[in-house]
Amino acid sequence: MKLAVLISGSGSNLQAFIDACEAGTLPADIAVVLSNKSEAGGLARAEAADIPTLVIDHREFESREAFDAAMVAALAPFAPDLVILAGFMRILTPAFIAAFRGRLLNIHPSLLPKYPGLHTHQRALDAGDTEAGATVHFVTEELDGGPPILFAQVAIVEGDNAALLADRVQLREHQLYPQAARWFVEGRLALQGDRALLDGEPLPPSGVDLDKVQD
Ligand code: GAR
Repeated sequence: MKLAVLISGSGSNLQAFIDACEAGTLPADIAVVLSNKSEAGGLARAEAADIPTLVIDHREFESREAFDAAMVAALAPFAPDLVILAGFMRILTPAFIAAFRGRLLNIHPSLLPKYPGLHTHQRALDAGDTEAGATVHFVTEELDGGPPILFAQVAIVEGDNAALLADRVQLREHQLYPQAARWFVEGRLALQGDRALLDGEPLPPSGVDLDKVQD
C-alpha cells in the first residue's frame, strides 16, 4: 500500500512511519510527504529517506477550499491508499475529507473525546486529570470527532507541565500511529458510516487501548 503523510512540523510521527516501513513492521511505502510549511523539519526527514516531498503553502490560497483542492490535485498522481495526518495543523474542508473518506487517519494528542482542538495537554493539567494521552482516529467532517481507533494513556505526574507531558505523549504516539496504520494496511480496519470496524467488529467508542493490543 502507498501512504501519503501530511505534516506541518518536526515530523517525529513521520519518522516513526519511515522507521516502521524500513523495518517491515508496517508493510507499506510512503509515496509522498506533503507540508503546508516550507520550514517544517519533517521535510528533511523525508528527503533523508528518499521520499518525494511537496510544499503547498496555505497562505497562497484565497480560501480553505482552494488550498484543499490544490492538495487533492497534488496528491492524485501518487494515488495514496491511505492518507496520514501527522501533525498537520490545518482544518480540512468537507471536500478534502470526502476525497479520502475511510482512508484518512489523524493522531490527536488527547484521550478523545476529551479535548478536541488545541492546547490539549494544558487543558488536561488544568482539569486535574490523572491521565493524558493520544488517540488515532478516522477523520470525518467533525473536527477531531471521527471514530477513535487506538489510544495510549500517559500518567500525569507531580510537577508536570504541558511541554514535559507532550514529550512523553509523543513517545507513545510513535508506537500508536504505525500500529493503527498497520491494521489498515492489513485490511483489518475500516470506516463504515461513522463507525470504525476492526476485523468486522465495531470498536469501542474510545478505541482500543494500545497496552491491550496483542497483534
Ligand atoms: C503530535 O504530537 C500530534 O499529536 C499533534 O502534533 C504533533 C506533531 O508532532 N497533532 C495535533 O495537535 C493535531 N491537532 P510531529 O510533527 O513531531 O509528528
